[in-house]
Amino acid sequence: MWKEVEPAPADAILGLTEIFKKDSNPQKVNLGVGVYKDDQGSTPILKCIKTAEKRLVETQKTKGYLPISGDPSYAANVQKLLFGAESEVISSNRAMTIHSPGGTGALRVGADLLKQFNPDAKLWVSSPTWANHKGIFSAAKFEIKDYPYYNSETKDVDFDAMRATLESIPAGDIVLLHVCCHNPTGVDLSDAQWDQVVSIAKSKGWIPFLDFAYQGFGSSIEKDRSAVEKFAATGVDLFIASSFSKNLGLYNERTGALTMVSPTASEATVAMSHLKKIIRVNYSNPPAHGGLAASAVLSDSALYDQWVEEVAEMRERIKAMRTKLVDGLVERGVEGDFSFIKSQRGMFSFSGLSDETVEWLRENKSIYVVKGGRINLAGLTSSNMDYVCDSIAEALKA
Ligand code: LMR
Repeated sequence: MWKEVEPAPADAILGLTEIFKKDSNPQKVNLGVGVYKDDQGSTPILKCIKTAEKRLVETQKTKGYLPISGDPSYAANVQKLLFGAESEVISSNRAMTIHSPGGTGALRVGADLLKQFNPDAKLWVSSPTWANHKGIFSAAKFEIKDYPYYNSETKDVDFDAMRATLESIPAGDIVLLHVCCHNPTGVDLSDAQWDQVVSIAKSKGWIPFLDFAYQGFGSSIEKDRSAVEKFAATGVDLFIASSFSKNLGLYNERTGALTMVSPTASEATVAMSHLKKIIRVNYSNPPAHGGLAASAVLSDSALYDQWVEEVAEMRERIKAMRTKLVDGLVERGVEGDFSFIKSQRGMFSFSGLSDETVEWLRENKSIYVVKGGRINLAGLTSSNMDYVCDSIAEALKA
C-alpha cells in the first residue's frame, strides 16, 4: 500500500522535538516547542494541580463516560475564566462550552462545525501564525487567506495594513485572532487596536474565532482576557478555543475548550446540538482527568489563588529570560538591536534569526529553534543562557 507513497514531512514544531530527543550532545537546548521549563530545565506539575489530582484520586468513584460536551462544571469554570464570573454572557446563557482535547481539538471541532454551516467561507489567519493553524483548517477543507500582522522592520504589528484587510473581509468569512501572547511573534494588539478590530467585526459581519492558549502569560489572568470581553459584549457570533496546556501545565492531559457565544440563548443551544454531533463522530467524548483536575483548581479559592501565583512565577521567569538574553547578546557585541525581545509577550520571541542561522545553530550547537526564528524563551535557564548567547553570537559573526 505504501510502496509508491512519499513520506510526509515532519511537523514543524513537534517534529523538531523528535530530532532533539535523538541528539546525543549533552549541551543540547530545545527552544522549539512551546512548553514551559523552570530554571532547572524541567516542566513541573503545578502544585495546585498536584493537590487537585490527589483529591480527585481519593474521591473519584467511576471512570464512566463523560457527556459528549464534557463535565458541566468544567464548562462553567471555563466560562468564568474567559468572561469573568459576573458576565452578562454567562447569566443570559449565550455561551456554550465543550471540553475539547486541547486547544487544537477545540480549533478542529469548531472548524468542522463552521464548514458544515458556512461551506463557502474562507478562513483568515495572521501573517505569520502558529504553524498548525493552517493545517487544522485545511484539514477541515477551508481555503486559507492571510491578513497582514507582523512588520519585520518595525518589529511591531502593522496595524494599518491589518485594519485595511479586516475591513475588506466579507460577511460570513472567519477570522482567526490570537487573544494574547501572539504565537509566533510575541507581539500583541493594544487595547485601542482591539476596540477597532471588534468594531470592524461587528460592522462587516465576519466571524471572529479567538485562539486563547496563553491566558496569564501576558499580564495577568484577568487582563489577558480583555479582547474576549470586548467581543462577547458585541452580541455577535463568536468562537473561542482555549487551553490549559500552558497555564495549568496540563500539556499531556489534552485539556482545552471550545466556547461558542451567540446573540441569543436559543441560538447558542442550536449551535451546541450540532457541535455535539460533530464531536460524537470524531472522539465521542473527552478524556476526563485533565478537565476534572482543572475544575477542581478553578472552583476552590485556595487552589485558585495558588494557581494565580504559579502562573505569575512562570510569566516572570520568562520575562527575566528575555532581559538576560538581550543583555547577553549586547555583552558579546552582537551586531543589531535585539531590545525588541524585551517588549514581546508570552512564551515566544520572533527573534529575527534567519532560517540559515537557525539551521547553523541546530547543526553546530544542538540548539533547536523553529524555522522562521521563533524562540521559546521558557527553554532558557541560568545554566544554558551563556551557551545560547555565545552560540548566537558565533552564528551571527560567522
Ligand atoms: C507551540 O506552538 O509550540 C505549542 O503550541 C505546541 C504545539 O502543539 O505546537
